[in-house]
Parts: sequence; structure tokens; C-alpha cells
Amino acid sequence: MPSRRGPVAVLALLAVLVTVLATLTTPAAAAASTLNQLAQAQGKYFGSATDNPELSDSAYAAILGGGEFGSTTPGNSMKWDATEPQQNQFSYAQGDAVVDFADAHDMMVRAHTLVWHNQLPNWLTSGNWSATQLTSILQNHIANVAGHYKGEVYSWDVVNEPFNEDGTYRSDLWYNTLGSGYIATALRAARAADPNAKLYINDYNTEGSGAKSDAMYNLVKSLKAQGVPIDGVGFQAHLAVQYGFPSDMQANLQRFADLGVDVAITELDVRMELPADSAKVATQATYYADVTKACMAVARCVGITIWDYTDKYSWVPGTFSGQGSALPWDENLNKKPSVYDAIATALGGSGDGGGGGTANCEVAYSTNDWGSGFTANITVTNQGPAISGWTLKYSYAGDQRLSQGWSGTWSQSGKDVTVTDAGWNGTLATGASTSIGANFAYSGSNTAPTAFTLNGTTCD
Ligand code: G3I
Repeated sequence: MPSRRGPVAVLALLAVLVTVLATLTTPAAAAASTLNQLAQAQGKYFGSATDNPELSDSAYAAILGGGEFGSTTPGNSMKWDATEPQQNQFSYAQGDAVVDFADAHDMMVRAHTLVWHNQLPNWLTSGNWSATQLTSILQNHIANVAGHYKGEVYSWDVVNEPFNEDGTYRSDLWYNTLGSGYIATALRAARAADPNAKLYINDYNTEGSGAKSDAMYNLVKSLKAQGVPIDGVGFQAHLAVQYGFPSDMQANLQRFADLGVDVAITELDVRMELPADSAKVATQATYYADVTKACMAVARCVGITIWDYTDKYSWVPGTFSGQGSALPWDENLNKKPSVYDAIATALGGSGDGGGGGTANCEVAYSTNDWGSGFTANITVTNQGPAISGWTLKYSYAGDQRLSQGWSGTWSQSGKDVTVTDAGWNGTLATGASTSIGANFAYSGSNTAPTAFTLNGTTCD
């Protein structure tokens, strides 16, 4: 029976529901990769430090464990004050939580750190120890802590920051009581406790050549000559835009590698005087790229760890007043496209992540149509690794004209519609969805779009 109503009225009454399920399957050759996947393709890892309070931030944790990072380092929870707060009373809950997170998300752990001058408990710093007593305390700590994590961690920063800037040994509890021999003692104790962990000495301002780097070089050479177990040297790489780049980094890494040890970038960040501007960010992106290239060019550079991935949890503002914006993800957990792409490109990727990277996605599109206009309701579901920051694009075939959108920033150019996340819905864990909508006016037909892209990847 013919309808007594015209087609427009039918639409008005029925509110046409058009659902487009477009499951995006990216061809393998075109699949963009996470930073860790790109590093892995070169036999290396790309990691991020973390800290326990952050793990309860679900949006943060979704990105940390979402595939961008193949390794993590606990920023605080394996340090002496955390693991042996009272003499011979060990506390592993916080460190275990990081290891458990890493296990659950297929990440390695660079454990940090057994012997340092900082973050020592009062009982240790206030004691007036003889050399014999302190040696025993040191060996007991390492036997317990490295023993507890035996088989659970990829590496240990056994000794952290032993040198002053001029290459002399740092005057601290360890050196002042035990002389430089504490380093060999610690390395031997670590080897005994966890024979399979890679044992590192780690320091900052050693990335380029200079007195401090030379001191580290001579130490490692001497340890190797004595048969002391040492597997790697960590270069923290806490860089700053305003202090320039250590241009001989690659050659410096190589000379350490030539001693027969692995090298790693262990705590990379690139801070700047705030506020950030485009020139500083451009320099920062170059520094990130150049560190990455230096590591990629040295066969024994095993990987790169950034000192957390987001400005939300960076140590920088709390330590360097007026400085910050040091990491590739901003305080809202959105990628900084130019910085992220600079790293990805240096890792051999296409660098077209645009801050989002590729994603497998599902788009549900429906309309509520009243004849001369309609509401478009779109639900985007991320079926790939976690993304932070997204751009959805699609096109209309007719004359649909955007009037107002919500839950995203909507724009239209001719027939092409672009929606970027609203900030609060920019982070999408695997399986997470967000719903957005907009009103359009139109005349003629209102055909549903048939193709969508998310972060540049075409949904078919
Ligand atoms: O745990 C206490 C908390 O109870 C208290 O309320 C709060 C108040 O300030 O302090 C908390 O301790 C802080 C701790 O981080 C845990 O968040 C300390 O104040 C703070 O000084 C400490 O900073 C850490 C710093 O090492 C200490 O030297 C940073 O998070 C950590 O990222 C940083 O990491 C070091 C590496 O180990 C070695 N290389 C340099 C790097 C950056 O400084």
C-alpha cells in the first residue's frame, strides 16, 4: 500500500537509522607502528619510566601498557628508601606492582637502582658505619632486593650517578666510606643475586664526551680488565633545549660499546624554559630524534627509555623551576605530534602518526532525520592499541551542511567533515568508545557516509 505520507514525512516519523560498521583492517605493509614496534624492528626496545601513584590513573595506564612501550623503569619504588626503609626489613609491594603491571602488558623491567647517593633511608645515612659494616649492609641489600626480583627484571642499574661533573668520584656515603671499590662490590653482589640480569652503571651528563664521560669510560675499562661483572652503561640523557645537544653522542656511545658492554638511553627527556613555543618544540623534536638516531646507529645500544611519557608526571617542573614540557605526551595525555613523529621517524617509521598513530577502529553512524536536517550520532571504538589524540574524517555525497557539533571539534570543508577529540575523550584504550554528535542541514538526499578515517587510516 502506498504511503499516504511523502518521503520527507516518512523520514520525520521513522527517524532513519543508518548504521555503518566499518571495521578497519590495516594492510600489514601500511600498518603504522608503535614506538616500541618500530624499535623492535631494529632489535631494540622503546620504554617509559613510571611511578606507582600513576598506575591508578586509568587513562595514563592504558597508554603506558597499550603497546607504545616495551619496557618500563620504576621511578622510585625499587630505590633503597622504598625497599629497605628499616634495616633488614624489606618492602617490595610497590616494586612488585610495577613488575606485575609490566608482566600484564608484555613489558620488560629495567630495575632502578641498587646503590645511589640519593633516596637513602635515615637509618642508613645516620649510622656511623665502619667499612666492614657498610660493605655488609650493601651486600645484604643487594642480595635481598636483586634476589627478590631474580628472573623478573631485564636489567639493574646497580650503581647510579657515581661521578661529579669533573670526573672525580662523588663524595657520598659509599665513596667516603668504601672508596671506589664499592662499585665492584655492588656489581659482584648483583651478579650473585640475579645471574641473568644485565648489570649497569648509570649516570647523567655522560652522553657526549668530556671529563665525566671519560671517567665513566675509564671505570668501565678498568672493571672489565679486572673481570668485574658489568654488562652495560646507562646514559640518562636529561637534556634541555637551552643547553644544546651533545653532538658526539653516537661516537661516545660507540666507544663504550667497543669496550664490550651494552649501552642504553635510560632516562631521556628534553626540558625547556616555559612557556613552550614553536621554536623550542622544534628544537626539542630534533633532540629526541637525534638521541634516537644515535642509539639506532650503535649496534650495542639496546634501547631507549623516556623518563615517563607525559608532562603530567614529569619530575622536571618540581626540580627546575619554570621549566617543563619535557616529554612527548602533554599534560592531557595527548601526543605532541611533532615530537612523537620525530621519534617515530628516527626509529624508521613513516612519522605520519600525527599524534595519534594508526588504530583499528569501528565506527557506528546513525541519524535522526527530520527532512531538512538531521542529527548525526557517531560512536568511535578503538580496536587497536591505545591512542591519545584522534582525528576522525569522513565525507558526505550530498549537500549536508554542519551547523553545530559536540563532544569534539567539528569542521567542514566542502563535503569533507573533520572531527578532532575534545581533549577529555582524546585517550581511547583498546576497546574503548566515545560518542560524538552534530546537527546538519540538508536538501535533497541524505546518504550516509560510507568511509571513515581515524588518525589518517582509512576504514573500509
Ligand atoms: O613519597 C613522598 C611522599 O610521601 C611525599 O608526600 C612527597 C612530598 O614531596 O614526596 C614523595 O617523595 C618524592 C618521590 O619522588 C616520590 O614521588 C620526593 O619528594 C621526590 O624528590 C622524588 O623525586 C624523584 C627523584 O628521582 C629523587 O631524586 C623522582 O620522582 C624521580 O623521577 C627521580 O628520578 C631520578 C633517577 O632516579 C636518577 N636520575 C635522575 C632522575 C630525575 O631526578
